[in-house]
Amino acid sequence: MTILYPGSFDPVTLGHIDIAVRGAKIATRLIVAVLDNTNKKPLFSAKERISFLQDALGHISNVEIDSFSGLLVEYAKQKNVTAILRGVRSPGDVENEARYAVFNRLLSELNNIETIFITASPSLSFISSSIVREVAFHIYSSNLNDTTLHNMVTPSVQHALSKVYQ
Ligand code: PNS
Repeated sequence: MTILYPGSFDPVTLGHIDIAVRGAKIATRLIVAVLDNTNKKPLFSAKERISFLQDALGHISNVEIDSFSGLLVEYAKQKNVTAILRGVRSPGDVENEARYAVFNRLLSELNNIETIFITASPSLSFISSSIVREVAFHIYSSNLNDTTLHNMVTPSVQHALSKVYQ
């Protein structure tokens, strides 16, 4: 079964990596796909976000890293995907993600693409890319100790964040 794990991954966090590793155990092929949305100005380019994902997940043989633009279900169709994978950290996430899942199912009616959810590991459920960006901004612009970030992102992401905000 080919599973698609899409996201902005701006930047990828240890929470995302945990979901991808666990997803790869269920899938025969797991495509981790970065949304390359020209309307939004991400902190990191799609190329950088892909490179962070390669660093973290490139060693897993059934994981592929890619990017997409436009409608997720169109990309899923092209890649012959059976299910979309999303991580959920809280009841709020479940509510939002259920809405996306219904919408994606409607959009893909003929292809019947399902969405499956994996709940975040408790120790990682507080992490989000937006919190990472905010913490990194305050830590690096005020020259504070960056041990908190160490528990949230990979060393390559931490290094890139320090370059952006220092
Ligand atoms: O990591 P994110 O930002 O929560 O990921 C959101 C993502 C990329 C899965 C979602 O924004 C998406 O699928 N965007 C592509 C456009 C699309 O298909 N939108 C309709 C989904 S209802």
